[in-house]
Amino acid sequence: MRIVLVGPPGAGKGTQAQFIASHLSIPKISTGDIFRANVSEGTELGRKAKEYMDRGDLVPDEVTIAMVRDRLGEPDARDGFLLDGFPRNVPQAETLKKMLAEWDTRIDVVLDLVVDEEEVVRRLSGRRMCDSCGEISHVDFDDKHDDVCDECGGHLFQRDDDKEEVIRHRLEVYRRETAPLVQFYGDEGVLVEIEATGSVEEVTRRALGALAPLEK
Ligand code: AP5
Repeated sequence: MRIVLVGPPGAGKGTQAQFIASHLSIPKISTGDIFRANVSEGTELGRKAKEYMDRGDLVPDEVTIAMVRDRLGEPDARDGFLLDGFPRNVPQAETLKKMLAEWDTRIDVVLDLVVDEEEVVRRLSGRRMCDSCGEISHVDFDDKHDDVCDECGGHLFQRDDDKEEVIRHRLEVYRRETAPLVQFYGDEGVLVEIEATGSVEEVTRRALGALAPLEK
């Protein structure tokens, strides 16, 4: 299955992507994770992306699209994938559509995680990520009192773009650039809205319930 996850920053895309991709045995492809890995490895791509990410702006399309094209061309993505964080605007969505048509395929379903902005700010300002395995947690909801990852013992850190003023800017960018994808994928007939409030487990149940009719 070829799936896209959309929704505002902090909607829970990364959290849900882990469970959905693992349930369907498909690779999770997160453009944010790929950019962050390149930033920490100090690559040329990371150097180009960092200034945009720190401000909460989108990395330019030509950089992002070339990176996604390379990743989707890898053998593990041939029979399905879950995209988290791409596409992020209508030009990226149009390019993805053309790219997949060249390979005689298309996006099967777009899950739109719906959550209000105050909840987003609450979620992002308490988010912690593991620098070793990438596990996502939250200081309140996961009752974290130390900076050690429960999964692997790695170090938990706060993302540079999770400061409140950057979060507010990312939300503006989402409204302007990314929200129009709801209309785009609605017109394509593949959009499914998922209520993304409630516990992580409840949201996973709703998402897997929406995907069940499409599983072969
Ligand atoms: P990216 O990493 O994609 O960030 P984002 O879209 O802003 O999304 P987030 O990762 O912040 O949130 P999420 O929805 O994944 O939420 P999460 O599951 O972590 O992109 C970062 C930057 O990279 C961009 O700003 C841009 O610069 C660049 N970039 C990336 N893709 C690009 C593209 N295509 N084009 C151009 N530039 C691009 O959850 C958040 C918190 O909430 C966590 O603490 C979690 O534990 C908690 N939580 C999750 N679900 C629940 C729940 N149900 N109840 C309570 N807490 C919950």
